[in-house]
Amino acid sequence: MISKEDINKEEMPKHIAIIMDGNRRWAKEKGLERKLGHKAGAETLEELANFANDVGVKYLTVYAFSTENWKRTEEEVGALMMLLKSYVDKFLKRASTNNIRVRILGNIEKLDASLKASIEKIVNESSKNTGLTLNIAFNYGGRDEIIRCVKQISEKVSNGEIAIEDINENIISNNLYTAGEPDPDLMIRTGGELRVSGFLLWQLAYTEFLFVDKYWPDFSKEDLTEAIVTFQNRKRNLGK
Ligand code: IPE
Ligand code: IPE
Ligand code: MG
Repeated sequence: MISKEDINKEEMPKHIAIIMDGNRRWAKEKGLERKLGHKAGAETLEELANFANDVGVKYLTVYAFSTENWKRTEEEVGALMMLLKSYVDKFLKRASTNNIRVRILGNIEKLDASLKASIEKIVNESSKNTGLTLNIAFNYGGRDEIIRCVKQISEKVSNGEIAIEDINENIISNNLYTAGEPDPDLMIRTGGELRVSGFLLWQLAYTEFLFVDKYWPDFSKEDLTEAIVTFQNRKRNLGK
């Protein structure tokens, strides 16, 4: 059985991104309600974020709710909002002990006031933690992020802060939600679908992809270990 000792600590991926997909199919196969699939998925996230922190991953970005997920039923959207709130509130009680820093990628402006308040609290209270940075992509869309980025840069151009000729990759990266963070080394999508669904469109330019069939609630520490080992055996050319 694979264990964390199989991971080469010298070649750790600094940043892992995960599309946590397959919650509803997991629930359906078990004859459970959808929201129980999402609840199981939130438990998997908690376990794997702690594990990633343990083995020395510096950034973990997880796709929790896309800008397109508003198209789901009101009931399901409501359940997903409640789960984020309970995840955040539960986390708040422990943030100091596990040293994880939480950030949110996405537009939280229009979320329910109490959810927004919890999010702001966790982001503030964990901001000085020095372990894993856990980016939760919530109400996130890669195109939406690029539109926001273009607007921010345009604003700086129009008030004379930067010249058009000076726009470069760094300026773009620094106007994304992930400003200041390295791009993902490894992107994992669970649930068997072979697409990116709008996730980190700019940041994934040179990322290694791994698609796994398991549904997210079944994805385990061993599966993440295996994913890291697989990544470590890949040859990255980075254009060279
Ligand atoms: C991922 O699982 C969670 C969210 C997208 C919020 P899904 O809810 O997409 O589950 P499947 O892919 O339909 O099984
Ligand atoms: C992507 O999964 C978004 C999240 C995991 C939050 P979806 O299930 O929404 O993606 P599609 O609809 O299959 O592309
Ligand atoms: Mg899905």
